Amino acid sequence: MPARGSGKRRVFFALWPDEHIRGRLAELAIRAQAQFGGRPVRADALHMTMAFIGDVDSSLVDSATAAANGLGAQPGFSMAIDRLHCWRHNRIAWCGPQGQPAELTRLATRLHGRLTAAGFRLEARAFAAHITLLRHADCSRVAPCFEPFDWDVQQFVLVESNLTAASAEYSIIGCWPLAESNRTQR
Ligand code: 2AM
Repeated sequence: MPARGSGKRRVFFALWPDEHIRGRLAELAIRAQAQFGGRPVRADALHMTMAFIGDVDSSLVDSATAAANGLGAQPGFSMAIDRLHCWRHNRIAWCGPQGQPAELTRLATRLHGRLTAAGFRLEARAFAAHITLLRHADCSRVAPCFEPFDWDVQQFVLVESNLTAASAEYSIIGCWPLAESNRTQR
């Protein structure tokens, strides 16, 4: 376990792309950068956050794991990555689904519910499915068009973030497979 001073660990639940999807997302980040400028997220750090827990006492990481275990098997799903957008308020360029898949909404909602019931204080803002591609983007530019693609989501993960002077290093510390059903739905 990394030394983070006071025994705190910074953790969050996320969807983590496999190598193929990571490649597509990294390509899209480069394409977006040509238009928006900014700094691309490293390919090995690309992900979609589902529930950001933040800095918690090390002893509470097991409670987060137990909350996810209690979800039982949730159905896997296919998610179209067909939207590229830039948020002016935080200068993040991101991609994601135009319409959030029902399974993703349900998974994130149930996860938030279980974490809250376990005593974690999560951000009250509604879950907005997005994958950050660029930081410090110039959002006054028009988003480039791109070829949409599907992400076949088969698992979700618990991630630990270690902030360094230059960036965040992510390690996957837990993994939950999704059930086989409904993978053909969009
Ligand atoms: P972002 O990509 O929109 O910045 C790890 O920090 C991940 O958790 C990032 O994907 C980040 O989203 C997300 N996250 C959500 N809420 C956060 C918060 N309050 N502080 C830091 N990261 C947060």
